[in-house]
Amino acid sequence: PVLITVALVGGYLLGSIPFGVIATKLGGAGDLRSVGSGNIGATNVLRTGRKDLALITLLGDGGKGAVAVLIGWLLTRDAPVTQQAAMTSLAGGSAFLGHLFPVWLGFKGGKGVATFFGTLLAACWPVGLLAGATWIAMAFLFRISSLAALTASVLAPVYVHLTGRPVAYAWLAIFMAALIYIRHIPNIQRLIRGEEPKIGKKKDAA
Ligand code: G3P
Repeated sequence: PVLITVALVGGYLLGSIPFGVIATKLGGAGDLRSVGSGNIGATNVLRTGRKDLALITLLGDGGKGAVAVLIGWLLTRDAPVTQQAAMTSLAGGSAFLGHLFPVWLGFKGGKGVATFFGTLLAACWPVGLLAGATWIAMAFLFRISSLAALTASVLAPVYVHLTGRPVAYAWLAIFMAALIYIRHIPNIQRLIRGEEPKIGKKKDAA
């Protein structure tokens, strides 16, 4: 129970660090929440025209998920694989929740896509790679970040199954995908209306 609490609280606190907000503020690119979609993620940082800050946001928001998973792994280094999978999933899932509901921003966080990738890459790298390749392929084809994320996240649980990874990772992937879909409802509505902006386009439908 103590170890689980450490994984949950540690994961949440790590996940709640809003790298996009911090990077744009320190980088002199203004208040991210009044730009584009108002989201705190790398896609929206790109709308400020600052690719460097968007990359920092992507790596920071992804990295915090990976570090949370690493903590979960360290806590269960000598445990059986299924227990390790459960603990790393709890820590990673907690970081993901931290990103969506950060205490520092009045619990109004992001959509979780970068943290989803960082968490999956660290917890279950073949699945992370497959999901990442899906995002890149969709982004290449359609140039719409949300559409790429919606496709990659819905396929992640399928990839866990196909690669024969422990079932804890399937639950982790389903949990994150469900929240990603809920967070993308405005994006889905824009996609249906054909109004979702392409990657890097500065003006947004809001
Ligand atoms: O990573 C979030 C992305 O899928 C959508 O972001 O700013 O276009 O709502 P945004």
